[in-house]
This record gives sequence, structure tokens and C-alpha cells, in this order.
Amino acid sequence: MSTPTRLLTPDAVGIAIAAGILRGGGLVAFPTETVYGLGGDALNPAAVARIFAAKGRPAADPLIVHLAAQADLGQVVADVSPAASALAAAFWPGPLTLILPRGPAVPLAVTAGGDSVAVRVPAHPVARALIAAAGTPVAAPSANRFGHTSPTDAAHVLADLAGRIDAVIDGGATMIGVESTVLDLTTPVPTLLRPGGVSLEALRAFLGAVEVAGRAAPDATLRSPGLLERHYAPESALWLVVGPEAGARAWLRERATRELAAGRRVGLLVPDEDAAQLAALGADVEALGPAGDLEAVARRLYAALRALDARQPDLILARDLGEAGLARAIGDRLARAAAGRVVRI
Ligand code: TXA
Ligand code: MG
Repeated sequence: MSTPTRLLTPDAVGIAIAAGILRGGGLVAFPTETVYGLGGDALNPAAVARIFAAKGRPAADPLIVHLAAQADLGQVVADVSPAASALAAAFWPGPLTLILPRGPAVPLAVTAGGDSVAVRVPAHPVARALIAAAGTPVAAPSANRFGHTSPTDAAHVLADLAGRIDAVIDGGATMIGVESTVLDLTTPVPTLLRPGGVSLEALRAFLGAVEVAGRAAPDATLRSPGLLERHYAPESALWLVVGPEAGARAWLRERATRELAAGRRVGLLVPDEDAAQLAALGADVEALGPAGDLEAVARRLYAALRALDARQPDLILARDLGEAGLARAIGDRLARAAAGRVVRI
């Protein structure tokens, strides 16, 4: 597969070209407020097949359908419950994906053969203008090769997908930096399948009870294939330490010191405060921003992980930041990047 990938501007001209490509069954990567998406016409099975091929994504992993507005929900879902309408009204446009009963117009390839469909209205102005101009719902997974870290700028998209997609709209860095929250509304109690840009606390404040799906074992039957343990993975082995701050920092210092003494190149992916404390060790440090500013950390997380990984350390050490608000999504992505190398202290 080799297609020259056009770089488009995020203005009316670029959006018109991109919308034409989507209408013609082609693929366009575009910025959303979370990460870049790899878009194709959600109602065109050939376009949907191209998305899976370009990403190297298993057909069993369903796609999110992006709409320009809540009013378009009826095009893709069979039934809009009162809870779904209320959530959509409260959180859209925004980083919340709802799992709802699939409407008949949505090809089974989008939902991996299932009866439910994932839907959201993104908040990024370029994404919304593109979907509206295309005049069709847009299926869009994150615009990375399967299993890689999600892209938060156009250069990341090209690094993974140049030659495999028709175009990318360069809208600069994304605002949130981690993917949308995925909430299943087809279960008796709404179930959080993936923590993301909308916090669990915000959903519980709105809905009352929300269950949290456990992270599936790699060989388990997956409720949501995105719960796959190894995902968002760097090339270097990443170790994640989880526990109280002081102890976790001490663990990072001890482990880094030991590895460096053994002649291994150590990368540290840590908040600014840790970076300052650990700078003297001689490790390769990527600072994520202040630990107290989770929005800044989320925004930088994937770019920092990519940058550090590109320098090919023998291992990467990272620290979990807890479960409050966006920290849950940050910890979830770090744990997936760690692919089981999680140390609880
Ligand atoms: O922020 C985001 O959600 C980004 C931007 C582009 O919108 N998209 C994104 O898509 O992260 P993707 O494909 O990388 O992740 C979608 C997640 C996967 O974990 C997938 O398994 C899950 O949503 N999913 C999609 N349809 C589903 C369904 N019908 N039931 C359960 N999980 C579903
Ligand atoms: Mg993805």
C-alpha cells in the first residue's frame, strides 16, 4: 500500500479538500481535542476496510463513529435512551464516547460484528467542520499503527501512516492529549471501559452509579478490545511504579541508580518535581509538567513517551500519579505501555 499523503491546512480550503476525500471513500487523519483520528466514511464499508488496513488493526477491534452534532445520533444508533441524551447534552462536544445500540445504517465492519456502536461528537473545531463538510458520520480510530502510541500532532501521524492514508490535516498539537472516555450504556449499570478526558468522578456526579471494567487479560474474551493489556506500547521496556509519592520516587531513584551502574541507558518519564530531584543521576529525563497540573501532564504524555522512546534507552521508568480526575487515564495509558511491568510498592 503506498499513497502519497497530502498535508492539508486546517482552514476552509484544507477542510474542503479533506471532506471531498472522505466522500470519495478515502482516508484523512485530522485533529480532535484528544488525539488525531484516522477518518473514513463510517457508512461506506470499503472506506472502513481501508481504515483497518492502514492501521494494521485487527477486524475484531471496533471503531468510534464521530458526528458533527448530537442531532445526528439517529443516523447511527437504534435507540437513544434518556440517559444517553442527557449525557450527550451535558458532555458533547467533548471527550466522551458512548456505547449504544447499533443503527442499521452502520456497517458491521465498524462495530466488529457487534450490536453496539461507539459514538462521540468531538470538540475540536477542525474535526467538527470536517465532519459537517463531509456530510456523513466519520469512523475514526486514533491515527497510529495498531499497538503504537496515539498521535498528538501531525508529525506523529506521518511517522506511523505516511504513504498509507490520503491526507492529514495539520491542526497542531491536540488539547487534551489522551483519548476519550469510553462509557458503555448497553449494560444494566453504565460501565467505564476506558478512562479518558472526562473523569469518572464527573460521570458519577452526573449518573450516580458507574461500574469500572477491569483491565482484561491479553487472552481473555474482550468486552472492549481497547482494554488489551499491551497497547500504546513504546519500543523500550517501560516499568511503572505505583504507590505513595515518596516511596515511588525512592523506588525510581534506586532502580535508576542500579541500572545506570550496570551500564544500561535509563529513560525517566516523570513529573517536573521528580525530574528536578533525579536529574543528577545521569538518566535521560523527559519531564511531563508539574504533578499537580494533570492537564499539562496528559497533554505532553504521548509526545514525551515518543521522544524518549526514539532515543532508544534500554528501559524507561515512570511513576503513577493516582486515580483522581485525569490521573486515572494517565495511569491507565502508562500501565498499558508497561505491558505488565507494574511494580506496586
Ligand atoms: O479520543 C478518542 O477516542 C480517539 C479520537 C480519534 O476520537 N479515538 C480513539 O479510537 O481512541 P480508538 O479506535 O483508538 O479507540 C476506541 C476504543 C477502543 O478501545 C475500542 O475497542 C472501543 O473504543 N470501542 C469501539 N467500539 C466499541 C464497542 N461497540 N463496544 C465496546 N468498545 C468499543
Ligand atoms: Mg487507539
